[in-house]
This record gives sequence, C-alpha cells and structure tokens, in this order.
Amino acid sequence: MNNIDKKIKLGVNIDHIATLRNARGEDFPDIINAAKVALSSGADSITAHLREDRRHIKDLDIEKIASNFPGKLNLEMAATREMLDIALKIKPFSCCIVPEKREELTTEGGLDVVSKHNQLKDFIDPLKDLGIRTSLFIDADESQLRHCVDLNADCIEIHCGSYCRSFDGNLPSADDEFLKIKNISELAYKEGIEVHAGHGLNYNTTRYLSSIKEIEELNIGFFIISEAIFKGLGNAIIDIRECMDEGRDLGEKN
Ligand code: PXP
Repeated sequence: MNNIDKKIKLGVNIDHIATLRNARGEDFPDIINAAKVALSSGADSITAHLREDRRHIKDLDIEKIASNFPGKLNLEMAATREMLDIALKIKPFSCCIVPEKREELTTEGGLDVVSKHNQLKDFIDPLKDLGIRTSLFIDADESQLRHCVDLNADCIEIHCGSYCRSFDGNLPSADDEFLKIKNISELAYKEGIEVHAGHGLNYNTTRYLSSIKEIEELNIGFFIISEAIFKGLGNAIIDIRECMDEGRDLGEKN
C-alpha cells in the first residue's frame, strides 16, 4: 500500500534540453549535465520521452541516462513494439506509457485504457516481469482508472493539462478540474495504485496539486526549462520543489 506521509517526489522532464540541442544540431546543451544538475537540485528522477519521430530525446540519450543514473530514469513512451523492445533492453526504473500522435506539439490527452485494454496488457506484463515500474498516463476519469487497476499497473499519472490550462487563480475548493484530479487520486489511492500527475504545471498549479496528499510524484518539464533561461536549471528546480513542499504543508493543514 502507498505511504501517504511520504514527501512528494519530483520527476524532471528534460526533453526540451534536447529540443534546444537539436535546434542547432550540436552536442550541447548536454542532457547528462542537465540530469546531473536536476538530481543534485532536488529532483528524484529524470523523465525523458522517446518519441517515435525522435524529435527531441534520441536513443543514445536514453542509453546514457540509464547508464549514468541507475534507478533514476522514467522512460516515457508510446505502447508500440519498437518502444517495448527498447525498454526491455534498457531496463529503466520506470516506464510511463502515453498516447502519441505524430502531428501533436505535446501529449495532448490521456491514454484510452478502456479501448486499448488488451493491447496494453501485452505491453505491461513483460515490463512488470522485469521489475520495471509501469505507469499509465490517463485523464482524471474513473473508467480509465478502473482499467488501470484491472491491468495491475503500478501507477497512474493523471494528465493535468485541463486543470493547468483553465487555472486562473481559483482556490482548489472552487475549481472543478482540480476536484476531478483530487477525486481520482483518492480513488486510486484506495485501490492501492500509486498516483502521479503531470503536464503543464507551473509554480501555482504545482503548489495546489501538491496539497493532494494521495499524489506521490509530479513530473514537470517545460515550465522548469523555461524558467531555467532566467534563473538557471538548479534554481528553477529548487523553486518548484519549494512550491511542492509548501503545497504539501497546505494539504496537511486541511
Ligand atoms: N508527464 C507526461 C506523461 C508528459 O507526457 C509530459 C509532457 O511531455 C509531462 C509530464 C511534462 O509536461 P510539461 O512539459 O508540460 O511539464
């Protein structure tokens, strides 16, 4: 069973360090250096999305992160045979399975676990057999959660894009999108499934989401990398960590 008193964990998504590197076809900024700074500034893990079109993270990046930082790589990927073979070879600490459309700018919504149940079963079982933590990226929807439970996934990651996009300073208690995430987190926790959340988070939304005690991990990328331009990667991570800890304290008081 999950431990609700644990400190909330931070996964830093470094995809956009690779986006910047690829824009000039150079070998810098170096993603290994970025991962090192992230881990020494308060990140618990490094998330990287190996997309089918390799638009940011490349195969070699994944190999290097896994070998330089054992037990720290959260590999994000689509449920394809190619990605399964890569994951089984690299053996990351965890795999987060996401939907992927070639033309999208970023992961636009959660997986449809309901309609892809059988396909996902064939995908998750071999990962679990190797002891790789499996996570399914879903919208805050109960039927999606039920199928994740049936599939015996270790974790869900709740897509919080709708919450972040609609956030206009509302207090959590007055925000429907926040309440949807909170309800699914509570349900998932009761089912014994570890709860993560991510997508589109900034300082404010991170603070509020961290007040949901059932959420054990947040995965944050674009905002951190954007802030890093102005204050440096280490400082951006320290600041987001502070928001997470403040949010957790807020949750404890309620
Ligand atoms: N979690 C998942 C599963 C994602 O697909 C993404 C985006 O790549 C993130 C977290 C991070 O989102 P953002 O870059 O908007 O912080």
